[in-house]
Amino acid sequence: PDQQYDYDVLVIGAGPGGYVAAIRAAQLGLKTACAESRETLGGTCLNVGCIPSKAMLHASEYFDAATNGTMEHMGIEVTPKLNMDKLHGQRLDAVDGLTKGIEFLFKKNKVDWKKGHATFQDAHTVKVGDETVTAKEVVIATGSSVTPLGGIEVDNSKHVVVDSTGALELPKVPKEMVVIGGGVIGLELGSVWRRLGAKVTCIEFLDEILPGMDADIRKESRKIFKKQGIEFKLGTKVTGCTVKGKKATLTMEPSKGGDEETMTVDCVLVSIGRIPNTNGLGLENIGLETNERGQIEVDHEFRTAVDGVRAIGDCVPGPMLAHKAEDEGIAVAEWIAGETGIVNHNVIPNVVYTLPEIAGVGLTEEQAIEKMGGDKKAIKTSKFPMMANSRAKTNHEPDGLVKVIAEAESDRVLGIWAIASVAGTMIAEAALALEFGATSEDIAYTCHAHPTHAEALKEAAMGVQGKPIHI
Ligand code: FAD
Ligand code: NAI
Repeated sequence: PDQQYDYDVLVIGAGPGGYVAAIRAAQLGLKTACAESRETLGGTCLNVGCIPSKAMLHASEYFDAATNGTMEHMGIEVTPKLNMDKLHGQRLDAVDGLTKGIEFLFKKNKVDWKKGHATFQDAHTVKVGDETVTAKEVVIATGSSVTPLGGIEVDNSKHVVVDSTGALELPKVPKEMVVIGGGVIGLELGSVWRRLGAKVTCIEFLDEILPGMDADIRKESRKIFKKQGIEFKLGTKVTGCTVKGKKATLTMEPSKGGDEETMTVDCVLVSIGRIPNTNGLGLENIGLETNERGQIEVDHEFRTAVDGVRAIGDCVPGPMLAHKAEDEGIAVAEWIAGETGIVNHNVIPNVVYTLPEIAGVGLTEEQAIEKMGGDKKAIKTSKFPMMANSRAKTNHEPDGLVKVIAEAESDRVLGIWAIASVAGTMIAEAALALEFGATSEDIAYTCHAHPTHAEALKEAAMGVQGKPIHI
């Protein structure tokens, strides 16, 4: 290490971006420390994000199958009883096991964990709690926090108006729940409580849920959620919220203006997006400014405008996803070590872990047409319904479809979208296809095991060529 500094690399934040960057830097022989203000490692994802939400989704899926007739239909008759303490216990166990796992990996790779909030003194000097740490390169991986909604005060401890963290921890099932925002969090956590017995209404500002996804997929998803019992108020904005005891009364009006409406429920989840964590980091001490969205701008080597300071993950532009942060974590460490770190930002899969799961990678049909200068004939698309997939049908999972979008002339695949019980797993194959520049013919002539949900992707690709077998 450079004698001038305590460390070669100091990473600020131990989420999927930061902890992965720190481990990779250490693997590459760099003396590395990682600062984290939280008591445990793993960031938003392991502590209050990806992992605990999936623990609740998975458990509630079983409860739903036992109560909504799915199991009975398969000849399994049970009388389900919800034990909330155990339900939350298994969630906490999952978090505990995985965060401790990162602690073990830090020890194994000799990454020093600096406990406390980090603030820049200058570009190479960072105060972490009471300690001052110097490093040749500093990586900002401070992640993001919940976007507040004006006029609505979140208090997770009261369990009435909550954010995603509060919605993971509700001690009992609310009778009626409103989720503000028809995005990923609203739909995932709304699904959890709907399955456990809540009547859930989703209020979305735009005219359709899941902005950013392919239009067919957005519409089809909403139909499926509606069939499952989630009510939607689209094109609606919440203007205020008052809490009296254990009830919250929301006022809302059409997004374009119009008559006000009120609704009183037991629980309100505010899930309208997340904002980068850059406050309190002392960016002013190093003269680093954020863009209008609060993000830190970086180049392809993740260098910020300040020499020796790089940034990755949720606090830089791009999708706020754990796997994107992780891949940037590996790449930034490789750049610092003098290697070439590559992240293909055009091929980042996106998954909503509801049932069915909703997943996509690459371009939406709308983006593909735009890329072709507005010429709809320059692309080919094909959709294959899960209803026609033998495994999905056998498993009583008929909802959903796979959609393949390809360039007409070259047949090169531009985007793949799926709604299917295991779409999150299926999309890995789609990402690999895009990464390798596959044509729809390549996918159509790749042998897929039978009977699997993945055959639906093969058939959708065959459809692009006009010759699917099963529809
Ligand atoms: P974070 O995970 O936010 O980690 C940043 C860390 O930095 C935090 O631990 C924070 O305490 C620490 N920190 C911040 N400032 C300082 C400071 N000044 N000093 C010291 N430490 C500091 N993504 C997926 O891909 N799949 C999912 O299924 C998924 N589910 C989610 C569910 C929920 C409910 C939420 C809220 C998010 C979910 N996400 C999911 C998003 C995912 O959690 C984030 O994209 C990911 O955690 C970003 O990683 P990161 O390393 O950039 O930041
Ligand atoms: P989001 O950006 O996914 O969705 C927010 C929704 O709220 C949008 O549909 C938006 O139009 C709507 N909205 C915005 N302002 C509104 C208002 N005032 N009233 C009503 N609706 C409004 O954000 P969300 O769900 O909070 O999640 C934050 C981020 O966390 C996601 O963008 C994603 O990056 C990450 N995440 C990822 C998950 C996954 O990968 N499975 C799961 C959960 C979170």
